[in-house]
Amino acid sequence: MKSDRFVELAERYGTPLYVYDAEKIAERCRKVLELFADFDFLPTFAVKANNNPNILKLVHSHGFGADVVTRGEFRACELAGIPPEMLVWNGNGKTREDMEYFIEHGIRYVNVDSFEEMELWNERLPRCASIIFLVRVNPDIDPKTHPHISTGMKMHKFGVDEDQLEKFMKKFGRTVKGVHIHVGSQIIDVKVFVEAYSRALELCDRYSLEYLNIGGGWGIAYKGKGLDIEDYKKKAIPILKKFKGRIILELGRYIVGEAGYLILKVIQVKRTMTKVFVVTDGGMNQLIRPALYNAYHEIEIPNATDEETMVDVVGPLCETGDMIARERKMKLPRVGSYLIVEGAGAYGYSMSNNYNSTLRAAEVLISGKRDQLIRRRETLDDLFRSVIL
Ligand code: LLP
Repeated sequence: MKSDRFVELAERYGTPLYVYDAEKIAERCRKVLELFADFDFLPTFAVKANNNPNILKLVHSHGFGADVVTRGEFRACELAGIPPEMLVWNGNGKTREDMEYFIEHGIRYVNVDSFEEMELWNERLPRCASIIFLVRVNPDIDPKTHPHISTGMKMHKFGVDEDQLEKFMKKFGRTVKGVHIHVGSQIIDVKVFVEAYSRALELCDRYSLEYLNIGGGWGIAYKGKGLDIEDYKKKAIPILKKFKGRIILELGRYIVGEAGYLILKVIQVKRTMTKVFVVTDGGMNQLIRPALYNAYHEIEIPNATDEETMVDVVGPLCETGDMIARERKMKLPRVGSYLIVEGAGAYGYSMSNNYNSTLRAAEVLISGKRDQLIRRRETLDDLFRSVIL
């Protein structure tokens, strides 16, 4: 997309502003459907990556259901019109109250995280006739991604140890119809999927299970390359072809990550004795990934100066960790320039927060020449709506 378009949107809607490109999202959905065209297949979108119901509506229009973790995410799906038969419930901390809620609201698939959780379902079985239970297996595989977003190793809190599965199936095998596996996020090495899928498949075979949920985790191109989809098609798809049951996929980042941008405005260009700081109107409150994972997001600057230099791009919050890019060589922006932070569509707005009593950004969805405000900027009233004085 041309940078003039971003500038125009920033002027019209203000900053910080999230912008999503509907065409790019649609393209990713179509790619997934094409890869799995010959399968009995339920694609789902991981709502944790982006919970705007307008985005959910869009992915649902391409045949996607959703992966939800909380009642809030379930609500987002309701608002988007995704029926509960197309929803998968994930999580390692499902409360008894949530279970009642999800049963009542017709959840179809549940990924069970532990023996302890399965016991709770067991007590409720008569009311769970339409639920399909899958057991999340921890295969002890290193996904070679950031430690905070790898999930399938023994030390992680998720799933049932693979070597405990025999015991699990002995106890609950009559109820459990499938295996769920998700070893991490932002994985770009196809071998990791090949190994994880092979292991899961072997378990499905061993226990004659009809459902295989292969999780999500496809990496995108923040810097350099993302997951090579052709390679995935060549190496991972043939493994899954051996499975005769239904495949469920839970993708977040791959669908929306590269379709989203965060536009920030430069408040100040500050030169100290040691560094140049580009101070913007949004930081770890709007996009926490750089602060939390040291994540790299490409930044485009329309109308920058010609001076190229090393800078820290920082937010306005009272915390040193509040930054968007560290030691980045870039063309120096002017005060009032806009920064277009790329790859912000997944885990951007959904992880944003009100630290320092700041207001969350607005969100705009563009489709061809049209644009639509899909979430207004928060107001001070929003901030204190739940306070009792
Ligand atoms: N399924 C399960 C069980 C998951 O835990 C996740 C992500 C997904 C699917 C979707 O994964 P994806 O396709 O988006 O990689 N906040 C971090 C990412 C955390 C991922 C959590 N689980 C980030 O900003 O990188």
